[in-house]
Amino acid sequence: MDRFVIRGGKPLVGSVECARAKNAVLPLFAACLLTEEGCTIENTPLLEDVSTMLKLLRCIGVKVVMKSRAVKITADGRLNPEAPYDIVRKMRASYYVLGPLLARFGDCRVSLPGGCAIGPRPVDLHLRGIAALGAKVRIERGYIRAKAKVLRGNTMMLEGHKGPSVGATINTMMAAVLAKGETVIEGAACEPEVIDVANFLNKMGAEVTGAGTPIIRINGVNKLHGAIHSPIPDRIEAGTFAVAGAITQGKLVINGCEPRYLTAVLTKLRDAGVRVEWDESSIRVEARERPKAINISTAPYPGFPTDLQAQFTALLSIARGTSTITENIFESRFLHCLELNRMGALIDITGNMAVIHGIERLEGAQVMASDLRASAALVLAGLAARGQTEILRIYHLDRGYENLEKKFTRLGADIRRVKS
Ligand code: UD1
Repeated sequence: MDRFVIRGGKPLVGSVECARAKNAVLPLFAACLLTEEGCTIENTPLLEDVSTMLKLLRCIGVKVVMKSRAVKITADGRLNPEAPYDIVRKMRASYYVLGPLLARFGDCRVSLPGGCAIGPRPVDLHLRGIAALGAKVRIERGYIRAKAKVLRGNTMMLEGHKGPSVGATINTMMAAVLAKGETVIEGAACEPEVIDVANFLNKMGAEVTGAGTPIIRINGVNKLHGAIHSPIPDRIEAGTFAVAGAITQGKLVINGCEPRYLTAVLTKLRDAGVRVEWDESSIRVEARERPKAINISTAPYPGFPTDLQAQFTALLSIARGTSTITENIFESRFLHCLELNRMGALIDITGNMAVIHGIERLEGAQVMASDLRASAALVLAGLAARGQTEILRIYHLDRGYENLEKKFTRLGADIRRVKS
């Protein structure tokens, strides 16, 4: 398993280009199952999760041709509408094939994903969505079995006790585009990735309105056709770079991003005393001193995203004063705090709150990555720490960040990958 070795303490300076959003690309690939015509997703990031999703599509029998970053997906011929455990256990987002397979074939089997390092990840809302469209859903030997002769549009409330679900909203929307009649999804997730998938579905001939608001309306159509789409920029990667600039007291320009999707995050950075400016597609970040302590509460979009919580924890571990982070989406998403404490941070966890007593400087140490965003937090901590940090199990990072070490090296970081 590869690891990173970082010699910290160098301010990151320069400009970096943002990749396209992993969390948009994965459902966009799944949406291609909704037509037998070829679809092309352009500017795809080269990530482990992307490879896993393409592997799943090939396993279903779909033709996948990748030319540079353009992926052509053709779901014609004989297909096997099943997502096996072997693939789903590697990547939860495999559940995105559920809605499209059901809509297209009327019968499918998708493995239940099982455990996850960031806490419970139920799929009840996904099942509620497709059941509302008339599917008969059963759990059979670790698999979701969903069947429907015809899907019929319906009005449903998809919000759960933790708020709206991105995955359930997109899955239900993808199933409803081929249902008979009108579907109204209330309590829909408003994340930009939902809008991106809706835009792609509309290019394919679907009739979806209201994506990006809590009420999405879908007029079912008989058939969809092929389309070409380029996904939105990755707001979580952009936010990770912004924190990298702040934590190393550097000066960064992040290009090719959509700052309007990061308002909550950039505002928090400003509250922490970091100089942040943005225009339509780039963000400038400059920090000359340690950040000020702030309080953060994660929330569904447009609130502060849980996927940037770990990175901000690293930043606030060297703040002047005591900060708090309340995690409202995945309440046990705090494994990175224990690793940060091994680097000298002073973080106490009580329930779903981390209390972070800022220290002057982190110290390099050997640490273990536990999940994708926790890994990013440890890299950021390593970039700022005195001495050498070694991060084990960085395969988590490769799931969601393309060539992170190369991007950081170009900005002046001393970071290298050690293969083993
Ligand atoms: C997506 C993102 C993930 C991000 C998360 C929250 C992808 C591939 N992943 O995950 O990076 O951290 O949104 O922004 O896009 N819930 C239920 N029942 C369900 C589904 C979800 O109770 O059936 C709960 C979850 O446990 C969580 C909350 O709803 O507390 C939000 O989860 P959800 O938005 O569904 O996350 P994902 O779509 O899995």
